Amino acid sequence: MNVPEHVAIILDGNGRWAKSKGMPRNYGHVIGARNLEQITEDAWDLGIKYLTVYLFSTENWKRSRDEVGSLMKLFHQYMKTSIERARKNNMKVRVIGDPTAFTQDLQDSIRALEESSKNNTGLNFQLALNYGSRDEITRGMRRMAADVKSGRIEPEDITEDTIRSYLDTADIPDPDLLIRTSGEQRLSNYLLWQLAYTELYFTDVPWPAFHKEQLEEAIRAYNLRDRRFGGVKGDK
Ligand code: IPE
Ligand code: IPE
Ligand code: MG
Repeated sequence: MNVPEHVAIILDGNGRWAKSKGMPRNYGHVIGARNLEQITEDAWDLGIKYLTVYLFSTENWKRSRDEVGSLMKLFHQYMKTSIERARKNNMKVRVIGDPTAFTQDLQDSIRALEESSKNNTGLNFQLALNYGSRDEITRGMRRMAADVKSGRIEPEDITEDTIRSYLDTADIPDPDLLIRTSGEQRLSNYLLWQLAYTELYFTDVPWPAFHKEQLEEAIRAYNLRDRRFGGVKGDK
């Protein structure tokens, strides 16, 4: 089987899953976070090299204070426990998005996780936190404009690769497969530039119930796709 090198996931449906069990939304987030720990090991077992998951969007601040507060607490815990797991599993963890909106504590724990795992050679695991594609492009273009202004680059030298180099995902290949769980079929401001040629896979399974078997099913579906770029078969 042809295993996609880079899989991106919009993990959705924690709240609905919890509700279906008669539990509060936050329970869904807790189990969802636990599921994330398992799926990184499964992904590596299956031969995936890059996994990029959407954990908190720039739009998610609109949720209730309570829910945002619980999520921040959960992220903080997750960063802390991930240090040991990344070491054990040889994972290189990076955060994409704008961390400056988080408390200093959370920012520090993100930095500690990235720093402690930066030389690992196993799964490249990207966590999208306070991430929005339009925000990423806006931040990147601000930096690029500053570089044009200071003369570091000339407007006529700007290529697609230049723009790519200003994104949070600068040194990460584009996803081959995007999975969105829990039935919604939209991108919700995720990796808009990077998904230009990605195969899209939508499943009704909510994130807390998405396990290795479902990941394998997505890869099987990916294998049945006839990947083309500009009408031509083959590689990107
Ligand atoms: C995904 O689950 C997790 C986050 C976006 C933080 P949701 O919280 O969106 O759950 P549903 O979609 O409301 O069921
Ligand atoms: C998308 O999920 C964002 C994450 C998974 C972090 P949402 O459940 O917030 O989706 P939309 O924005 O309502 O489409
Ligand atoms: Mg949702």
